Amino acid sequence: MSSTANLPAPSEKLSEKSKAAQARSHSPYSGFKVGAAIELEDGQIFEGCNVENSSYGGTVCAERTAIFSAVAKLGGGIRLKQVVVYTEASPPWPPCGLCRQVIAEFGSAKGQNVLIHAINHNGERVSHTLQSLFPNAFTPDHLKKG
Ligand code: THU
Repeated sequence: MSSTANLPAPSEKLSEKSKAAQARSHSPYSGFKVGAAIELEDGQIFEGCNVENSSYGGTVCAERTAIFSAVAKLGGGIRLKQVVVYTEASPPWPPCGLCRQVIAEFGSAKGQNVLIHAINHNGERVSHTLQSLFPNAFTPDHLKKG
């Protein structure tokens, strides 16, 4: 599995945006405040936070609110370059399986080499590629006919 050691750190700007998004988390049920910042291949940045719901099942993770915000503004052609997830967990944890699936939907045009960085308030970082976190993913290509 790819590790932090050979993967570049996210920019200070992207990290700060994920931290700022975490402050807006609506997480009264779990108490886990999560922020995310995504950078698209063209350099545009979007932020998201987890938004919980009293039904519990209506909860959406920070990574997905960031991605859905980008799609709402730009459409489904977006291509992800990197994702930063900010929590106060130590060690920082990577995106859940459902978020990995959604990241794969909008993965890089040249294969699934999206960088995923989990960071925290202590300055710890764990970085992966989507390929290493989510190998053999089901992707839009599998729905192509013929
Ligand atoms: N959560 C995220 O925002 N991202 C993840 O990748 C995992 C979990 C949120 C969902 C819920 O609001 C809280 O963290 C506890 O699971």
